[in-house]
Parts: sequence; structure tokens; C-alpha cells
Amino acid sequence: MTTAVDLVNSIRFEGASIVAYPDGLHPIGKGRSAAVFKLSGEEKVVKVFYPEFHNLAVQEAEIYKELDNDVYYPKLYEVGEGYLILEYLDGITFYDCLIEGVEITREMVEVVDEALNYARTKGLNPSDTHLQNVMLLKNGEVRVIDVVRFRQTKECSHWEDLKTAYDTIYCNSYFPKKVPAWIVETVIRLYRKGIIKFNKGK
Ligand SMILES: Nc1ncnc2c1ncn2[C@@H]1O[C@H](COP(=O)(O)OP(=O)(O)OP(=O)(O)O)[C@@H](O)[C@H]1O
Ligand SMILES: [Mg+2]
Repeated sequence: MTTAVDLVNSIRFEGASIVAYPDGLHPIGKGRSAAVFKLSGEEKVVKVFYPEFHNLAVQEAEIYKELDNDVYYPKLYEVGEGYLILEYLDGITFYDCLIEGVEITREMVEVVDEALNYARTKGLNPSDTHLQNVMLLKNGEVRVIDVVRFRQTKECSHWEDLKTAYDTIYCNSYFPKKVPAWIVETVIRLYRKGIIKFNKGK
């Protein structure tokens, strides 16, 4: 029987590029530290960290164990050398919502707030909560994914800044609810460089 370790060991990366992967895996997402594949015939994904980020798997698994919650976060099934097996979330990220024109409602934003407050009750410091780290499921539920930076001590204003942008720009009746990817990408790039800011009254 092919195990998760066999599948993960068959993936070939060149830096952050996937150059080969086995039949039992389907690429569904990529981030700055890992690639995510759905396991064939299972409601599970494997998050495989790029070679230089291997050590993050154990760190993220520890945080998922501490959270111990599958209402706001995906379930953690397994952790191995450089990978995590997580519950497959059948949905799209808030980033995709923006590009596909799926409305991001205030209720969805509030669920993310609840999820992050829940993490704070566990002594964590929710960080790096951006548009691609929050998902709207097909059943309307919302999940926060990618908790790897929830133990950092440095304050991260990404989510608060996004909420400011939501209140001041997105909720404006003139703002189109579907935005071309290149515009979203440009805004993200300028925000990351500090050229545009969304922080309230600062
Ligand atoms: N459990 C899941 N179910 C479905 N899709 C997922 C799941 N986890 C991650 N994804 C998809 O894979 C993408 C990358 O995953 P993730 O955010 O965990 O990677 P990362 O490298 O840690 O990201 P970042 O760049 O934010 O650090 C997500 O944006 C999402 O589209
Ligand atoms: Mg991510």
C-alpha cells in the first residue's frame, strides 16, 4: 500500500517549483512555504513544505494540536518529515472570492475574528492572516488555514488592515465585488512594500 510518506517522497521541488509529483496527488494550492495537494479519493490534503522550510511542519502541527478545534480550522490527521496531512476544505479562499466575484459578507469576516480570538484564548498570537489563508466552504462555513506563524511574538496587522480595507473600500456601494487578479496582485505587492497602508488612523 502506498503511504503518505511514499507520496511525499515522490514529489520533486526545485525551490518553490513543483517539478514532479505522483498520480495519487492533485496540486490545489501553493504558498510561500509549502505546496498543498489533495489525496486521490480522500477528503484529505497533504501540505508539503519546500525543502528549506521542512522544519515548519512540526511547528505548524504543534499549533494545530494546541488549537484542537475543527470548527474554525482544518483537522490535523498526521505530521511527518516536512509534511502535514489535513482535512480537505471544499471551498475557495477569500482571495478567490474577490477574483470570482463571490461576495465576502460581514458574517464571514466575523467568523474569522471569532477564529482568531479563539486562538488567543489558547495563548497564541494569530499572524499572517491574509486573503489566501481564509476559506469559504461550499456549505457556507468559514475556516482559517495556515497557522504556522501563530506563535510569532511580533505583532502582525494583516487581518486588521484587511478589515479596514473591507469597511472603507469593499463595503462602499461603488466598489465592484469582482476584481481582476492583476489589480488584487498589484495592491498586495504595494501593501507588502508599505507603499499603501490600510491601518486605521495611523
Ligand atoms: N486544508 C486545505 N484544504 C483545501 N485547500 C487548502 C488547504 N490548505 C491549504 N489549501 C490551499 O493551499 C494554499 C497554500 O496553503 P498554505 O496557506 O497552508 O501555504 P503556505 O505556504 O503556508 O502559505 P503562505 O504563503 O500564506 O505562508 C492555500 O492558500 C489554499 O488555497
Ligand atoms: Mg498561506
